[in-house]
Amino acid sequence: MSRTHTHDVLIIGSGSAGLTLALQLADQQRVAVLSKGELHAGSTWLAQGGVAAVLDEQDSIDAHVTDTMTAGAALSHEDAVRFTVSEGRSAIEWLIEQGVPFTRDSDHNTHQNERDGYHLTKEGGHSQRRIIHAADATGKAIQSTLIERARSHPDIDLYEHHVAVDLITRDKLRLPGNRCVGAYVLNITSGHVEVFRAANVALATGGASKAYLYTSNRDGASGDGIAMAWRAGCRVANMEFNQFHPTCLYHPQAKSFLITEAVRGEGGKLRLPDGEEFMKRFDERGELAPRDIVARAIDHEMKRLGCDCVYLDISHKSADFIQNHFPTIHRKCLSYGIDITREPIPVVPAAHYTCGGVVSDQHGRTDIDGLYAIGETAFTGLHGANRLASNSLLECVVYARAAAADIQAQQTTPALPEIPVWDESLVTDSDEDVIISHNWDELRRFMWDYVGIVRSSKRLQRARHRAEMLQHEITEYYSNYRISRDLLELRNLALVADLIIRSAMLRQESRGLHYTLDYPELSPELRDSILTPVNYSWPRN
Ligand code: FAD
Ligand code: SIN
Repeated sequence: MSRTHTHDVLIIGSGSAGLTLALQLADQQRVAVLSKGELHAGSTWLAQGGVAAVLDEQDSIDAHVTDTMTAGAALSHEDAVRFTVSEGRSAIEWLIEQGVPFTRDSDHNTHQNERDGYHLTKEGGHSQRRIIHAADATGKAIQSTLIERARSHPDIDLYEHHVAVDLITRDKLRLPGNRCVGAYVLNITSGHVEVFRAANVALATGGASKAYLYTSNRDGASGDGIAMAWRAGCRVANMEFNQFHPTCLYHPQAKSFLITEAVRGEGGKLRLPDGEEFMKRFDERGELAPRDIVARAIDHEMKRLGCDCVYLDISHKSADFIQNHFPTIHRKCLSYGIDITREPIPVVPAAHYTCGGVVSDQHGRTDIDGLYAIGETAFTGLHGANRLASNSLLECVVYARAAAADIQAQQTTPALPEIPVWDESLVTDSDEDVIISHNWDELRRFMWDYVGIVRSSKRLQRARHRAEMLQHEITEYYSNYRISRDLLELRNLALVADLIIRSAMLRQESRGLHYTLDYPELSPELRDSILTPVNYSWPRN
């Protein structure tokens, strides 16, 4: 039986972006927050390194702006960068007010770089120590604090295991004056698609790194928000810039476990299997070069030597230092028989972060009235061609707060239309689920092989062809069979893969995370790859 829920604001996603927005609004508005799985199932929970912000007297807004622009290979929008960086301090103060237990300097028994007593670490591309963190489990500390606050707020309704299928706009309902008015949502427990109506809707659905075979992300990172926004008529930008993190643990049983860049920030060295350090051959900043350069150097050396991984070595530091700074990594590696206080860690690059996304402004507003995009799903212009480490959690909090201010400043509340229930009369249960699992595997492999760290025009052509065929097959399947979470994610990933490939084909240069053998040079022209949906039709409803 289909149900209809009505709220002031519908927030799709319960990561740092979604929960910050919910908590900012809830004293004035009734808010619904959806999560595909449990509330902590996105990337926020996994964040290790920390949050970048100017908190030390030695540091400055200008220095953080310059580092962000440099990492972004000059493509970051300076206004977005300056705005984000300038809001950093108050974003951190807000997180501290909520109760986030950031690591204090005294915990590390050091008085270096002290600011308000909090320890600041360093990561690639940062000219200063400016990463505030909670040991090596910053995301867990932030998200568990925000979840606790949200759970106890009477005006926040939390819906776990609810998967948004598509946005509902007045255009799609053939009503005048386009505006987003809600979403169709699959309730995994009941198996029914429900209607969520709201005067404002925010996409806080995270990234799309699951488009790649090897990723640091969890299974839910399927770009749902980007795909839903595109189908609703929003522009999407810079999807070719998918960031590969240089150092994920390489072990047959370790699924997507990251070794934080802070290990390199605290002196960790990358070595080849014979023990040789190699980063200085690629960049004078060595291990602390921006991560596109480090990931490409590792990829190059692995291909040159035909080896399965390289090694990250922090064992020259004392066991106390390592256990204090990196307790989670130490424990996890030990569980696989690797003692990082005595031996190097086998690592490989993996897809990590989606720099592009739904085009949005400084308040998170998208092309459609009443629809906001915040966090990793958004394209704000901050990251340019490569995100600076630890700028993402910062962006989540800063833009969620800005979106909240914009929603609160709205003078009138639009009347909500009646929305038809989801029509399931023409579909049946699938008898061929193998199509879904096969297509998942195929998509993620060709994206890794053809649209990965090093690209070429021929590889992109091949990928485009395959993405089109997959989309065709999935659309047909989607029209005939009852939907499931796997099918929805596959449908979204296939669309997002297509957007990544199309953006990559538009970029005839090598810049930041986009490296192509056919255009190895930088172009003098600075340009975003903006894709506009034209005549995109919904296969159903
Ligand atoms: P997420 O935290 O990914 O949350 C997405 C939410 O959307 C989830 O609740 C999910 O269930 C929900 N959702 C998605 N689709 C749907 C749908 N269709 N219907 C309903 N709900 C949906 N960044 C830093 O700045 N510092 C770090 O130290 C750092 N470390 C990282 C380490 C790892 C291993 C990873 C993977 C990322 C790291 N990042 C880091 C990046 C950062 O964690 C993410 O970019 C950020 O947490 C994204 O937050 P978000 O709120 O946008 O999305
Ligand atoms: C890390 O800790 O290396 C991840 C930081 C980030 O992705 O910003």
